[in-house]
Amino acid sequence: MGYIKSAALEETGFVVLDSYDKPVDPKEWLDIEYVDWKSSGDTRFAPLASAKGEIECNGFWNHEPPRTDKDGVWIDAQTELAPTLTARAQEPGANVGRCRIIELQPNSYADCLYNLHQDDNNRLNPDGTGWVVRGFFNLTDDKDSYFVLRENRTDPSIEYRIALPAGAQLIVDTQRLWHAVHHQGDEPRYCLITSWTSCPELDAYIEKYNGRSTTEYYPVSEEVREAGQAEQARRDAARAAYYAEKGQKAKLAMSEA
Ligand SMILES: [Fe+2]
Repeated sequence: MGYIKSAALEETGFVVLDSYDKPVDPKEWLDIEYVDWKSSGDTRFAPLASAKGEIECNGFWNHEPPRTDKDGVWIDAQTELAPTLTARAQEPGANVGRCRIIELQPNSYADCLYNLHQDDNNRLNPDGTGWVVRGFFNLTDDKDSYFVLRENRTDPSIEYRIALPAGAQLIVDTQRLWHAVHHQGDEPRYCLITSWTSCPELDAYIEKYNGRSTTEYYPVSEEVREAGQAEQARRDAARAAYYAEKGQKAKLAMSEA
């Protein structure tokens, strides 16, 4: 039967929406409660919706009963402190699974390539229902930071680099595209991440904000790209050697986020 997917994401696996152009009080992401949750770098997360409405970030499939990334339970103590962000996550009218703010410490392009991973949003997702994709709303003004999206983790031939100034809004099929962020700066980056179920309402939202499947890409020199690629390969090999020594198959440096 297959999943219900957004046609807008078919070409490249992501869309960039018009930037959010209203101010948001930083207290909405600074005053809420974070939990240590390492994912693709030095990170913490502040959930707005979780499996059971508790302040934790585990995949819904790790709860009892296990379920896919849908029907997240809003956490009142958090959403009361972040009303604008909560409203933005709810605006499409699509089913929301996990919804949380990521705090990411600065890293390098090579870190980012090493951190490239696919998400697991559709684990246990029943066939014939909506495919879970993710919205990323950048909150801090990280003009020199960018999302790296690849079809293949180690193949640089298809790499989209999308700059992350305040207000940048993307929707990404994170189970298809390998993704991570290269965050340049002295302060942490904050971004609202929402799991949405693909549906006609989400399609209408994408259309309303002029979702486009390609955009301007952040420029990176060939030299930096080649050095990053070499460092990713070096770290992958080191990791594989470490696990080979222990008689285990190397795990990818990926964790669900
Ligand atoms: Fe992720």
